[in-house]
Amino acid sequence: MRGVVVDGVRADRTVDAMPTPSTTLPPSSRSIDWDRFDAARVDPAVIAVVRATCLLESRSDRYRDHLIGVLPPRYAPGVEQWAEEERHHGRALARWLALADPTFEPEAAMARFAAVPYHDGPRSDRGGPTQELVARCLVEAMASTFYLALADATDEPVLQQICRRLSEDERRHFLRFLDWSRATPPMSAPRRFVTVVRRLLELEDEQISGAAVVARGVDGRPTSARRSARRDHFVDVYSMHRLRHLDVAQAMVWEAIGARPPAAVRRWLTVGGVVALRVRVACWSLSDLPG
Ligand SMILES: [Fe+2]
Ligand SMILES: [Fe+2]
Repeated sequence: MRGVVVDGVRADRTVDAMPTPSTTLPPSSRSIDWDRFDAARVDPAVIAVVRATCLLESRSDRYRDHLIGVLPPRYAPGVEQWAEEERHHGRALARWLALADPTFEPEAAMARFAAVPYHDGPRSDRGGPTQELVARCLVEAMASTFYLALADATDEPVLQQICRRLSEDERRHFLRFLDWSRATPPMSAPRRFVTVVRRLLELEDEQISGAAVVARGVDGRPTSARRSARRDHFVDVYSMHRLRHLDVAQAMVWEAIGARPPAAVRRWLTVGGVVALRVRVACWSLSDLPG
């Protein structure tokens, strides 16, 4: 295997083969051809999305603490490993940003992002370990899909490579949490479905919005500027998603729910999902029209 990578840390095992915490990283995150970076192919809209994603990935320690509190103690080593890999994702994106966008200062941005409240309060209690794990499956499925969509949305070869590696990692995370969710107290498919839908409805929550605001440099600015930054972020992200991406997401989500609708139903749901995203983007765009 070619040597890495982001910060000199070597990877020798896959996520699924890592029962204990370590400083090693999965092979999917290792072999990035940084020399292939092409500044002429960097799209400013993509930079803003990568900045926000870098901030979100770098904050995984906060969720690690929550997961360790909610899940049975036997999962703590795996959670530590998961958090290390998410931090690694943040470092990989920060390294790309250092090439593509030297004006971005990840540490200063992280300090400002720290002011955004984390997943605290009653909503963080999903009702038990199985609910938490099923919700995690949804988040990892969406993350894996997002990186696929981002890889397809950019022409910059290094970012494409990073995103495909990270998509694989997120898919591994999904499989790990799925496995765990089948070993915790059983939950029926309808209850899993409700958990997934609830988490889906939270995807535009304060975390992502806050990261978008900091990433676009408008934190501390008037509400209207922050609202525009949030809207621009979701417009950019939703516009990247195509039928093939939602097909991938849907397959994982049904796996997490433990049901398998007929292919025709899944196809229509994929089409419906893309239409819903396009309508959402159109509504935001119309809201910008002068009155
Ligand atoms: Fe990640
Ligand atoms: Fe992940």
